[in-house]
Amino acid sequence: MKIHIINGPNLNLLGKREPEIYGKMSFNDYFTELQFKYKSVEISYFQSNIEGELISEIQEADHNVDGIILNAAAYTHTSIAIADAVKAIETPVIEVHISNIYAREDFRKKSYISRSAIGVIAGFGLKSYELAVESLIE
Ligand code: DQA
Repeated sequence: MKIHIINGPNLNLLGKREPEIYGKMSFNDYFTELQFKYKSVEISYFQSNIEGELISEIQEADHNVDGIILNAAAYTHTSIAIADAVKAIETPVIEVHISNIYAREDFRKKSYISRSAIGVIAGFGLKSYELAVESLIE
């Protein structure tokens, strides 16, 4: 089974960025743990701060993996183009957020992506990704 994680803008700063919200661990460290925990799953990871690159990555991942875990970060709340990409592909996408976007500012409560995702996981810290992996395995 192949799972591709796609992370959006500023998630390259995890561990340093607002640690009280996003935690103190870098995504690279977390990713190593995740791969170790799910050895039978081929998990890959891509991060970009650029909207178009995220769209191309979503398109390229389609049919090449069994599931996509997408944290579009702030683009979740703004990007119709990323939402359209998720809608355009056939591979299932799980929308993930580290923080509970419903318990924060109002502008974070709107997601353009959710309606095309098979599910949304938010608020469990980095563990949100693990929960998404578990859901795709099941
Ligand atoms: C985020 C939540 C977004 O509102 C924010 O812009 C992010 C990260 C999360 O994982 O909690 O960059 O997607």
